[in-house]
Amino acid sequence: MKDEDLMKIIEERISYCTACDLSKTRTKVVPGEGNIHSPIVFVGEGPGEDEDLSGRPFVGRAGQLFDKILESAGFVRKDLYITNVVKCRPPDNRVPHQDEILACSHFLMAQIAVINPKIIVPLGSTALNFFISGSISEMRGKFFDWKGEIKIFPMFHPSYLLRNQSKAPGSPKALTWDDIRVLKKAYDEIKEK
Ligand code: URA
Ligand code: SF4
Ligand code: URA
Repeated sequence: MKDEDLMKIIEERISYCTACDLSKTRTKVVPGEGNIHSPIVFVGEGPGEDEDLSGRPFVGRAGQLFDKILESAGFVRKDLYITNVVKCRPPDNRVPHQDEILACSHFLMAQIAVINPKIIVPLGSTALNFFISGSISEMRGKFFDWKGEIKIFPMFHPSYLLRNQSKAPGSPKALTWDDIRVLKKAYDEIKEK
């Protein structure tokens, strides 16, 4: 089967999933979107209000900042694949519970299997700890080995940057603008091969 068809099947299964309680309060599921042949997959925590209403990842305030971060390094959003650890909005944007993350995990793992990226970028602590445990502040901006040939490159969550607006040297925003350039360089090297 073609990758596009496999991804459609995953999305369809997400659309009628009731495996955790987040299904009771969601408006729309947010499976993820973008280029399923992208060498980079970005993984957020879970849909917020705007995402829950639209069915698309990272379209609200955090998403607009995320777009600016991508554009600052010359990334084109539609060339990439963007998803979340949980596909339904946690009420009041609370952190998803472990049982919800566990119930949803096979969808993310299936998406990763279809895309087979070279680099996964967990945005923030929840996504980082889905893949490897550790502190986002200590691990952001570095590459870590994960399964097979896949590297993990953690970055701060855009919502965290909205709460920390300083652009002074060493601030989360300044570090993120550095990190995205490092990521773009790695992306360009993959593309040249
Ligand atoms: N925050 C996330 O983690 N994901 C989204 O899709 C939007 C906001
Ligand atoms: Fe299913 Fe994931 Fe939504 Fe829970 S968050 S209902 S596991 S799709
Ligand atoms: N804590 C988080 O959960 N995410 C960040 O990006 C930074 C701190």
